[in-house]
Amino acid sequence: MENGVYLDNAATSYPKPPCVRAAVLHALDSVHASAGRGAYREAKEAGHILDSTRASLARLLRVQAPERIVFTLNCTDALNLAIKGVLRAGWGSTQGAQSASRALPRVVTTDMDHNSVLRPLAALQQQQGIEVERVPADADGCVAATNFTAALRKPTRLVVMQHASNVSGSFQPIAEVAQAAHAAGALFLVDAAQTMGSLPLYPEALGIDLLAFPGHKSLLGPQGTGALWVAPHVDLSTVREGGTGSRSEEATQPAFWPDRHEAGSHNLIGLAGLGAAVEWILNEGVENIAARKHALIERMLAGLSDIRGVTLHGPKQAARRTAVFSLTFAGQDPMEVGRQLDLRHGVKARAGLHCAPFAHRTLGTLPHGAVRLSAGTFTSIEDVDRALAAVADLARGC
Ligand SMILES: Cc1ncc(COP(=O)(O)O)c(C=O)c1O
Repeated sequence: MENGVYLDNAATSYPKPPCVRAAVLHALDSVHASAGRGAYREAKEAGHILDSTRASLARLLRVQAPERIVFTLNCTDALNLAIKGVLRAGWGSTQGAQSASRALPRVVTTDMDHNSVLRPLAALQQQQGIEVERVPADADGCVAATNFTAALRKPTRLVVMQHASNVSGSFQPIAEVAQAAHAAGALFLVDAAQTMGSLPLYPEALGIDLLAFPGHKSLLGPQGTGALWVAPHVDLSTVREGGTGSRSEEATQPAFWPDRHEAGSHNLIGLAGLGAAVEWILNEGVENIAARKHALIERMLAGLSDIRGVTLHGPKQAARRTAVFSLTFAGQDPMEVGRQLDLRHGVKARAGLHCAPFAHRTLGTLPHGAVRLSAGTFTSIEDVDRALAAVADLARGC
């Protein structure tokens, strides 16, 4: 970023690899067609762009069936489809044993989850009377798998949990919670908003049933992109119906994937960019990206531990967290600190509350929230040092 350090990658990533811009411009200038809606060259190329973006994502996730990756507007849209699609579909194949409780769907989530999980659940609670239970986290924002034991004693249809917190950066124990959810007969949905594209994440190996993720954060694609991966054994009801360019003689939504869940014209331009971004990540190697980020996290943790008057909320060990650092400055308003970080030092950080009310309550950062610095794939050690110098300056008082 010219004259600045962009540290708001947890919201959306910047910059994007140059191939993303090239793919977006190509789609905008030369494709200009709707996939599946025509036999002319451009319409076929549009279809090819969607297929190849889906295939690249399937390679990154190491899943067998690309058609089970449904394109969405963002991670929020993917989570809404997952939550509402599972609850409407009724009992899935893993849940037959609990059909006695069919009348009252129950969902278990955590205090650390984002409003894009909590609000769809709250709406279903109000509109349809579903039961929702949140399991607590420790003071660093880590949820122990054992915390689910009591919550999963009652018949539960769905467990929803994030992979990492957008407030504390803490990783959550995905594989262990998957086991607990399955033992209780529930499906397991993971919100990978803060990790997809910056860490190896293989849902089939981890026992995940549904994985929601944005295209515009660590996957490095344009805004307006996201996806939901759904394991082949999961039955998902539609939440939106409409034209697909397939089976157009029929009045009902096609049964086959991905058309079943992709009604209406696609964000072709965005998805062209996302496909290029995912290919870029595959070429770099997601393990290499993760290793570079780990070095940034260690540098940030070491630097912050030397600054007095600043509290870091979340794990202090690099292995337990991602590159999201929420800070409070003794006696100072986070919004004002955020403003000064930009004005005085050109550091772009999010300040205030970060769409996860119970996470803030857990971390003790209500009512004013925190200043959040979040590093991305293109953040350098120099950027981290510059941010640390800015934090040290502001810690001395605005
Ligand atoms: C943990 C978490 N889940 C979900 C979302 C929603 O993502 P999107 O902005 O792509 O809808 C975010 C966004 O910051 C997030 O941090």
